[in-house]
Amino acid sequence: MVSSGVFSPNRLDAGTAVLLKKAPRPGRGVFLDLGCGYGPISCVFAHQSPKVTMYAVDVNERALELVEENARILEVSDRVIAAKPDGVPVDVVFDGIYSNPPIHVGKEALHEMLRLWLPRLGPDALAWLVVARHLGGDSLRDWLEAEGWVAEKYASQKGYRILKVGRAETE
Ligand SMILES: C[S@@+](CC[C@H](N)C(=O)[O-])C[C@H]1O[C@@H](n2cnc3c(N)ncnc32)[C@H](O)[C@@H]1O
Repeated sequence: MVSSGVFSPNRLDAGTAVLLKKAPRPGRGVFLDLGCGYGPISCVFAHQSPKVTMYAVDVNERALELVEENARILEVSDRVIAAKPDGVPVDVVFDGIYSNPPIHVGKEALHEMLRLWLPRLGPDALAWLVVARHLGGDSLRDWLEAEGWVAEKYASQKGYRILKVGRAETE
């Protein structure tokens, strides 16, 4: 179920489709879908992988309602937790982060969001970000490296980059 008032309401976003196709699917554990929108990433992964719990996080209330509805339809409500950023318990450590991040909010807000969530990765966990090349996929990689993360171009398709992001000591 999709709706107006949320990102890409009428169809699966092309960048999200590339992320779902190219990034490794989570096998088990607790994962963050950062900027979840109506929940395609969380719902697909929870549906595909029965040992996965997804925190679907967004600032948009309507998006979170749709995530809950979509998770209910797919019968994965017990493993898709829709939450505002401040609704995620502080002690949750993520086994991975998947995100089609909100580029339109501007670099400062995007960087603030990543500074908030990337440190919540477990020691060996990775983040998978999809960004359109023309919207700054390469400069985001450079910024992540400057922040001390190891960020590599993992895959590219249809003008989108998948960035694989981890801690320096895990490489
Ligand atoms: C590019 S959209 C991706 C939506 C969804 N993951 C998809 O693939 O269709 C980015 C999302 O990030 C959300 N967002 C913006 N600022 C945010 C923030 N500070 N924390 C969490 N989500 C945020 C937006 O509301 C939007 O739903």
